[in-house]
Amino acid sequence: MKKILAISGSLRKDSFNTKLVEAIKIAAQGKAEVTTTRIDNLPLFNQDLEASFPAEAQALKDIILAADAIVIATPEYNRSIPGVLKNAIDWASRPYGQNAFAGKPLLVLGATGGNVGTALAQSHLKEIMLYLDTKIVGQPELYISGVQNKIDKETGALDEDTMNHLKIGIDKLLSI
Ligand code: FNR
Repeated sequence: MKKILAISGSLRKDSFNTKLVEAIKIAAQGKAEVTTTRIDNLPLFNQDLEASFPAEAQALKDIILAADAIVIATPEYNRSIPGVLKNAIDWASRPYGQNAFAGKPLLVLGATGGNVGTALAQSHLKEIMLYLDTKIVGQPELYISGVQNKIDKETGALDEDTMNHLKIGIDKLLSI
């Protein structure tokens, strides 16, 4: 069975995007094994630290390298991706020539309580990840707006329509 690594770009305890990562585990059931990883333990990227590469950043790279495909659920912060996510991506892309993301199929999605469904953040993320040589799923696009109305407050489960979209996204991810 293929291995998917799913990363949430939010550190917030009740993060909608971390709930999306949990939903990805359900959407991929029977098709792929989904693991997650933390990004809150990484130092702030500093090129001076590359010479003695931090163990936490190497661990992130190793888990990316071990995955057959990547999912990133990103919040939109000020029309772009959160700094913590960019920090993790920058670490995983280094040292020069040893970018852990190279060649990996990638599905990008994101949730917001707002109306634009993280479209601008995802657009920035796709631009970054195209440069990092990932194979990005173009369709379906997974912009989850008004997410508070799509998640069950008791169970944290996503509504059926959204889950169906995630399943289509996972199928596409596993096909490329
Ligand atoms: C936001 N939020 C937000 N929402 C949006 O749709 N577009 C945006 O540009 C922004 N900008 C923004 C900046 C900052 C600094 C914060 C803290 C929040 C709202 C954001 O989508 C909302 O807080 C989500 O719930 C964040 O995702 P998680 O933490 O729930 O995964």
